[in-house]
Amino acid sequence: MSDAALPIPASPEADILSALGTRSIVLVGMMGVGKSTIGRRMALRLKLPFVDADTEIETSAQMSIPEIFERHGEAYFRDGEARVIARLLDGGPVVLATGGGAFMREETRARIAAKAISIWLRADHDVIMRRVRRRADRPLLQTADPEGTVTRLLTEREPVYGKADLTIASRDVPHDRIVEECIAALHAHLSGEHAAQPPADVASALR
Ligand code: S3P
Repeated sequence: MSDAALPIPASPEADILSALGTRSIVLVGMMGVGKSTIGRRMALRLKLPFVDADTEIETSAQMSIPEIFERHGEAYFRDGEARVIARLLDGGPVVLATGGGAFMREETRARIAAKAISIWLRADHDVIMRRVRRRADRPLLQTADPEGTVTRLLTEREPVYGKADLTIASRDVPHDRIVEECIAALHAHLSGEHAAQPPADVASALR
């Protein structure tokens, strides 16, 4: 057999891309779990565009998130966030990092379920506190008791984040390790999807 005839070995990345089609990969989870950092690296691995919903909201509002909260309030921010995510999902496939509250809206969860595979990056309270202390641009944590706020938000949100298709533990290990785990989990999930749907010829023979 000549070299030219050798089959190209399939890679998990190539399998993921072909199984995704126009669907996106959406990262959900609390502030500080690393959705943007991990998302950017996953996008590089998969050669997909990376989009950060928070940045897109800031661009379309021409204001920073703290300014949107201050001038217009949280409800206005949430409506804009839902619209921006809907638009980004229509332009898939992309790797999309969402703000920590986005997945709490049922309509957004339904859109993500229809047009993406979702990954919850789950981190414990201490990891989150350590990371969110480094930045002061999160309006929800500008309270007298940010630790208590994180505890309350985690209690409210974890059951909802748990509805994501996949869960990966975000912790203090090199980012590439988390990326690797996300890729492996996606690969397994999408292969399972494929196995659950027999090819058309098999499906018609079964009818
Ligand atoms: C929020 C998280 C933030 C940003 C906004 C509200 C939240 O995004 O969308 O401050 O409700 O958890 P990150 O999760 O990227 O910090």
